[in-house]
Amino acid sequence: MTEPDFLAATRAAYDTAAVRYAEFVGERFHSSPLNHAMISVFAELVRAAGGGLVADVGCGPGHITAHLRSLGVTAFGVDLSPEMIALARGAHPGLRFEVGLMGDLEVEDASLAGVLSNYSIIHTPPERLPEMLAEFHRVLAPGGHLLVSFQGYDHPTGLAEAFDHKVSLAYRYSPDRVAELLLKAGLDEVARLICAPGEDTQRGFPQAYLIARRTA
Ligand SMILES: C[S@@+](CC[C@H](N)C(=O)[O-])C[C@H]1O[C@@H](n2cnc3c(N)ncnc32)[C@H](O)[C@@H]1O
Repeated sequence: MTEPDFLAATRAAYDTAAVRYAEFVGERFHSSPLNHAMISVFAELVRAAGGGLVADVGCGPGHITAHLRSLGVTAFGVDLSPEMIALARGAHPGLRFEVGLMGDLEVEDASLAGVLSNYSIIHTPPERLPEMLAEFHRVLAPGGHLLVSFQGYDHPTGLAEAFDHKVSLAYRYSPDRVAELLLKAGLDEVARLICAPGEDTQRGFPQAYLIARRTA
């Protein structure tokens, strides 16, 4: 089957930017208390539900996969960019990283305790988002948790708006609309954090973190 253009474009952009991206992103994550806090909450929910394997989809250079491990969660990383995966393997040799697509994961049905998508749906065009969420639902075991984070779009009805991401074309999403799509995919919202736009000194976008659970 022919690959959609958006995947080829995203892969090429992250392959080119991988080294530069990896140089700053880990430090940015570890100095973002709110992003950090939501990953900790996600990890606690996974552990409290009995633990199990977690996929960090769109893992980039693997810093959050490693952080999840430090929180006692058995995580592995998947990214469509071979360059990102090479960097992740180099930086975290004891961990598992695979080149792959988050919309077509090489994972058995209902086999994961968690899926983490930290700013990785943002390169998915809005019309393709439902199939991505359906894939997260497919791989999650009943009662499994999803954390999805993205730049927010505060609009009364719209789903998404394109923005000038530095690496590749990206979309910011309406948290309410994403929560509706999650529900349609069989993922019930558990909690959300929306950071005030003023906290984003770069673009002034709200940052959204949604935690959902596959219906048990
Ligand atoms: C903005 S970066 C976020 C990286 C990391 N999760 C973080 O929080 O720093 C987006 C990452 O998602 C990956 N990505 C985007 N679309 C993807 C897809 N459809 N399947 C797998 N990886 C994807 C990109 O290659 C890139 O590494």
